[in-house]
Amino acid sequence: MENPKFVVIMIISIKVLVFSMVMLQMCSISSSSPVPDPDLVAQEVLTSINNATTRRNLGFLSCRTGNPIDDCWRCDANWEKNRKRLANCAIGFGKRAIGGKNGRYYIVTDPSDNDVVNPKPGTLRHAVIQKEPLWIIFKRDMVIKLKAELLMNSFKTIDGRGVSVHIAGGPCITIQFVTNIIIHGINIHDCKQGGNTYVRDSPEHYGWRTVSDGDGISIFGGSHVWIDHCSLSNCRDGLIDAIHGSTAITVSNNYMTHHNKVMLLGHSDSYTQDKNMQVTIAFNHFGEGLVQRMPRCRHGYFHVVNNDYTHWIMYAIGGSASPTINSQGNRYLAPNNQNRKEVTKREDAPQSKWKNWNWRSDGDLMLNGAFFVRSGAGASSRYARASSLSAKSSSLVSSITSGAGVLKCRKGSRC
Ligand SMILES: *[C@@H]1O[C@H](CO)[C@@H](O)[C@H](O)[C@H]1NC(C)=O
Repeated sequence: MENPKFVVIMIISIKVLVFSMVMLQMCSISSSSPVPDPDLVAQEVLTSINNATTRRNLGFLSCRTGNPIDDCWRCDANWEKNRKRLANCAIGFGKRAIGGKNGRYYIVTDPSDNDVVNPKPGTLRHAVIQKEPLWIIFKRDMVIKLKAELLMNSFKTIDGRGVSVHIAGGPCITIQFVTNIIIHGINIHDCKQGGNTYVRDSPEHYGWRTVSDGDGISIFGGSHVWIDHCSLSNCRDGLIDAIHGSTAITVSNNYMTHHNKVMLLGHSDSYTQDKNMQVTIAFNHFGEGLVQRMPRCRHGYFHVVNNDYTHWIMYAIGGSASPTINSQGNRYLAPNNQNRKEVTKREDAPQSKWKNWNWRSDGDLMLNGAFFVRSGAGASSRYARASSLSAKSSSLVSSITSGAGVLKCRKGSRC
């Protein structure tokens, strides 16, 4: 290897190889192929709900709630020893998110975030950037005020059960071009913009971050993501936004309050890669002080099932660019304002266009004058495959969502 030219060429070709491998990896993540028949996934969710409510009615175990996610793990008084069991409990499009199931536990002991380029071992930031799968838990109650966005690496679970963890007052969580993330039992609120700084996102890499939106959880080109039993409020932009080719997401059992633009799903009308987006929104409580976007959808397929909407100021579900919205067994309580009774809102299109968008409502419970304007294939007839959901299920919504948000879990007893 005395020939310096040869060495240079070698180095260049290795660089090209590494670069193309990285590009390949990024492509396979960001274009994570959608489920070809999303109605089948929606049907499976309904079956699991029907199974769970049947088991409840049969009075199998006194702790059964009829919520299939909770009933999968909350009956276990030894939840603390069996934490990873949670990873088998998701339903819907984010069902396959395994988080850190195959990794070791990482115990966060230190709430500080002083160095975002070389994070200290024991901090949340040090945990989430690692390459190996990790199931991240917390030693004690803590409030984590981040200095910059928390850039997560793939195959991580953030599990706040047993303690009270708040990520608040600074930038919050970013799930960018990574997969297999579970976030459970975390209070996320008062999130601010971050940026104009270097931030580490893996043991080998840190990069410059421009100014962020100030979301609670921002999913950007992420896939296989499950957000469960979190309490979210009062952030600068969205509470949970998923954009830029994100897909395979389940948002369940969360309690959201005091916020304007709650959930944006889809980057922009012209960003057609979001056609692959598939999101399940189940068993959430959309509560006090929410204004709009629960969610606001573009392009993809959105299954909104068994949520409790107790407060909106403008509207509940909105969209543009021909999204498919499948609303089933929700409870919509309209505000008293006579002009805000409509659950739905179409943006940026005349009726001649949006009349073809597939927005269905099946088995939803409409209260205080709430109404859902259907369109497309779901406008006239009930959708065949979805019709197994009876109105009875929507009357169960209050018990199914009564535990929404962060749970109080104690070692040695049921959560
Ligand atoms: C529902 O229950 C049936 C019968 O016990 C079972 O075969 C099926 O796998 C369950 N489906 C879901 C989605 O839980």
